[in-house]
Amino acid sequence: MVRLLNTEDFRTKARKYLPKGLFEYIDRGTEAELAMADIRQSLDRIKFRQSVLTGNEAFDLSTTLFDQTYPAPLIIAPTALAGLVAHAGEAKLARAAGRLGIPFCVSTQSVTSIDDIRKSAPEADLWFQLYVWKNRDLTWELLERAARAGATTIVITADTPLSPKRDYNQHNGFSVPFVPTLRGICDVLSRPTWLSAVMMRYLITSGMPTYAHYPAAFQTAITRLAIAEDVKIESGLCWDDLDEIRARWRGNIVIKGVLSVEDSQHAVKIGADGIVVSAHGGRNFDMAPTPVDVLPAIVEAVGDKIAIMADSGIRRGSDVLKYLALGGRSVLVGRLPLYGLAAGGEQGAYDVLSMLIDEMHSNLVFAGASSLEAFKKNAIA
Ligand SMILES: Cc1cc2nc3c(=O)[nH]c(=O)nc-3n(C[C@H](O)[C@H](O)[C@H](O)COP(=O)(O)O)c2cc1C
Repeated sequence: MVRLLNTEDFRTKARKYLPKGLFEYIDRGTEAELAMADIRQSLDRIKFRQSVLTGNEAFDLSTTLFDQTYPAPLIIAPTALAGLVAHAGEAKLARAAGRLGIPFCVSTQSVTSIDDIRKSAPEADLWFQLYVWKNRDLTWELLERAARAGATTIVITADTPLSPKRDYNQHNGFSVPFVPTLRGICDVLSRPTWLSAVMMRYLITSGMPTYAHYPAAFQTAITRLAIAEDVKIESGLCWDDLDEIRARWRGNIVIKGVLSVEDSQHAVKIGADGIVVSAHGGRNFDMAPTPVDVLPAIVEAVGDKIAIMADSGIRRGSDVLKYLALGGRSVLVGRLPLYGLAAGGEQGAYDVLSMLIDEMHSNLVFAGASSLEAFKKNAIA
């Protein structure tokens, strides 16, 4: 049995286990995939200052966010369809997050509903990612459902006004709801272990997996067309629309996908509690600036008014520390927990995140800082 020691090991195992269409949906970017390469390079360019003979013996990765202390500055990012990677995948991610004491953000487009996730992970700190649908009444119902399930924070995704161009999904015959094509069927049949452990298990128990939070009419092929327009992501969403969400939601509000100073100031103005400086992992807008390039100016502008988180491209513990060194308070990880989930279910997700924490710890030790706060003061060489 090969031991999984780094992200590439987990990713390789995930690629062998998942159908190609699903693996590429998770793994790849958009258009020419320039943004993904830029994100990688932007992180690789950063080097840390090293202090030796500091006498430090204890190293503390804990961080405070929204008045709560977490053992590590990590949040599992919302990822649509994580429930296709493993059966009840979102519940497994929530349990892994719960064991590590970090939040798990449930996606609007998850396969397991937030109510079921809550049942299977009663202790987890659940956040809920909200896509605002064209039909606002249905959107508000969704918000209430998240509140009833005990979500502490909603994350409003602002950077996805339309479906990005991802040609490979079409080439692979990958779509949701699943539309059978010869290529798609051959792909699924070529992964018998996944087919029996995930797809067959759904088919035998709850039927063809789909978006659990979408209204019942969306779940069946016959009534889907009638509701399709209602649950389209609102492409005309604007800052003023967020006032209504602020009025309806008592918990924390985080705006995800902010990449400019002006937008971070808008977020402060509408009363958001936090932002995620995010390029959506290079999956949406291939011409987007990298979080590394914009984070310092955003921190300078609004860092004392709002909690700033970051994501995109985290593959090693040092990448987490880099976003923190630039002023982020915590980071979101998207693909990494999915590789872990594919490689080993709940334990795999737990292992890949533990690996990240170990790597953060060793970087902190080598840099010569005893805590994240000490590290952040003088981090970049
Ligand atoms: C398979 C997949 C599905 C995603 N689905 C969503 C989503 O439904 N809502 C959202 O706000 N972000 C979504 N994201 C983006 C992540 O929340 C996060 O911003 C991104 O993955 C971070 O980059 P990383 O994967 O390099 O860590 C998705 C990412 C992946 C990989």
